[in-house]
Amino acid sequence: MTIDASSRVFATTSERGLRQELPPMRLWHKAKKLGIWNPRDIDFSRDILDWQAMSERQRTGIARQSALFLAGEESVTLDLLPLIMVIAREGRIEEEMYLTSFLWEEAKHVEGFRRFFDEVAQDHSDLSHYHGPNYRRIFCEELPNAMNRLLTDASPVAQVRASVTYNLIVEGVLAETGYYGYTRELTEQGKMPGMQQLVGLVKRDESRHIAFAIYYLSRLMAEHGDVVWEALRERMNELLPLTLGVVNDSYDAWGDDPPPFDLPREEVLAYATTQFQKRLQRIERARGQTLDEINRVANELDEAEA
Ligand SMILES: [Fe+2]
Ligand SMILES: [Fe+2]
Repeated sequence: MTIDASSRVFATTSERGLRQELPPMRLWHKAKKLGIWNPRDIDFSRDILDWQAMSERQRTGIARQSALFLAGEESVTLDLLPLIMVIAREGRIEEEMYLTSFLWEEAKHVEGFRRFFDEVAQDHSDLSHYHGPNYRRIFCEELPNAMNRLLTDASPVAQVRASVTYNLIVEGVLAETGYYGYTRELTEQGKMPGMQQLVGLVKRDESRHIAFAIYYLSRLMAEHGDVVWEALRERMNELLPLTLGVVNDSYDAWGDDPPPFDLPREEVLAYATTQFQKRLQRIERARGQTLDEINRVANELDEAEA
């Protein structure tokens, strides 16, 4: 894409300036304070002892869940760039400034989960056998294809399909369900404090990523109308069976044996379904809102959280 010098306008040196009141700028300021934690500072010394005291089957359960997170974090780190490129080409400087922190945070999440395998589990084997068929469909096909499509198709529908896959399903349903698992398996048992801390920090970063997506998808709806909402609902529904399939694959891997933690399959499926519905309902509330209303609601929510 060649840019004609005469059409190049810099927002920040124009009368428009930098729009501090936009929700992505609020998230940017938050990310500069809360997103700067260092994965290398987490103390895993108690985790090593707790890990050794666990049963073989419990270790397999935690390793499986962490292998899903680790490849998932790698995947979202690798696959975000086409979305950033669309935002950059549209000259949305405030959104891109926030997205620089988003990508850096995903990179730190990769580092944090890899530390678990290197230093706690001390497992350098190939972990891909933990990735079941539904997981592979999402992370090896649906996610990279939806994101890479943006390199040649930046239409609103392509943007929505990418963001729904990345933000609402992977971050908003799958990762949330994963945190729930760690809470039930580790936090409530008082086990592996380093891992608990890592998951808590990742979850806090991810809450900003999801807040950005809610703003971004609401903005697309305000700009392009119901075609965006229809594409969003369709994409959500396409991915729901695969999303629940990830949970089912993890349980099916135990065969006839009961899973090692007291966490029934039905409880996790119900949690994932509730998350799915919450994400859909949240976006539906923005239907018909103007850009000004979206900005006001997003900033009010931000205030309430702070
Ligand atoms: Fe992440
Ligand atoms: Fe994220």
